Amino acid sequence: MIKFEYGGTAGQGRRFEREFAPDALAAEKANRMLEDGTGEGAGFLGWVSLPTALTDEVLDGIEAAGSRLRVLADVVVVIGIGGSYLGAKAVMEALGDPFGYMKGAAGPEVIFAGQNISEDYMWSLLEAVRGRSLAAIVISKSGTTTEPAIAFRIVRGEIERRYGREGARERIVAVTDASKGALRGEADREGYETFVIPDDVGGRYSVLTPVGLLPLAVAGADIRALVRGAQDMRTACGADVGFAYNPAARYAAARNTLYARGYKIEILASYEPALGYFGEWWKQLFGESEGKRSRGIFPASVTYTTDLHSMGQYIQEGERIMFETVVSVEHPRHEIVVAREETDSDGLNFVAGKRLHEINRMAEMGVSLAHADGGVPNMRIVLPCVDEYNIGALLYFFERACGISGYMLGINPFDQPGVEAYKKNMFALLGKPGYEKEGRAIAERLERE
Ligand code: PA5
Repeated sequence: MIKFEYGGTAGQGRRFEREFAPDALAAEKANRMLEDGTGEGAGFLGWVSLPTALTDEVLDGIEAAGSRLRVLADVVVVIGIGGSYLGAKAVMEALGDPFGYMKGAAGPEVIFAGQNISEDYMWSLLEAVRGRSLAAIVISKSGTTTEPAIAFRIVRGEIERRYGREGARERIVAVTDASKGALRGEADREGYETFVIPDDVGGRYSVLTPVGLLPLAVAGADIRALVRGAQDMRTACGADVGFAYNPAARYAAARNTLYARGYKIEILASYEPALGYFGEWWKQLFGESEGKRSRGIFPASVTYTTDLHSMGQYIQEGERIMFETVVSVEHPRHEIVVAREETDSDGLNFVAGKRLHEINRMAEMGVSLAHADGGVPNMRIVLPCVDEYNIGALLYFFERACGISGYMLGINPFDQPGVEAYKKNMFALLGKPGYEKEGRAIAERLERE
């Protein structure tokens, strides 16, 4: 199971109890509020019990749809944005390898759309699917989000052009609200297979619903192992688990104490490039949950050792406002040993006979010590290995810690009122019916400025 260590390898661990114990009670209280539903946003706590609430019947249905799409198409386009795409994308990247496994080797290639409005991206996507059989999963809880709606109109058009409306019916699956939104109406009218996003689960907490599980099933992931990992993490972080043993409560307490001391930025770091997109999922989870009422830690992410050669200087010596959380993988999936060379012309025989993983680990220890010395407190989350079970546990660990952290910070971690501001302006600028007044106000403002 995943372990949480304060100080990582930099020897700050012994200070943890002394430094963070004052926050233990607050963390325990916040954790209990998640179970009792006594905090703000209590209508969006469905994710808390999701791992245990997912029945065999639900998982059977997701797997059946996944298997159907796997044999039907060479390419499955997953359309969604924010919480309706980042989880699936992050898990797929973590489990896959950079050169193709899980990207078409044994099933269809799974690609993503609707997470931007770039014309060039969409043009390239249509080029990439040319001549290959096509299916789509469209995911939107509200069913009205502009980016995925535009992408879906284009991809649906392509599918209908090739297979007709009848053919599209078996090639399109919608994941959306049970009754509300344009996508629900469209799916019902066209007779698409649908999966429901529970009302009480917000987008960024929805990776363990069909939002994440269906694309992952299509990609060939073992979604039951993912859910098992999350279930075990739920037990490990339960409201009855004391602070000393509760990794999510300890992590939440540490980051809140550091924030109160002026550390305004948290960097999530990993030494495995496969976890790079996990950082994107994590940034949305914490950024959208905590950034409210002029408060909240700014979440950033890096992949080491790559980014030591770009961001390393700033982190070591720039403004002292950041702390670091390293997701450290204990056992890689494969083994490569550096060979000894007689001539040693590259001067590398000092690492001959060592596995790359050992060198990577020494880099991690070296960085942890250097950053601690440079005034960047660091923590370490140890992942035994990158597989479905442990990734499921990691997802739930961060969700739980985010809920606890948000309550400790005194905000509602389950809404996102600030996301609406840009939409209002964009709709006004595009002349969407209903936004005439805002459109006039923007036009006047642009003239004045
Ligand atoms: O976490 C959230 O609520 C958001 O990121 C949403 O997931 C995102 O805006 C997409 O919304 P929807 O699924 O309604 O299209």
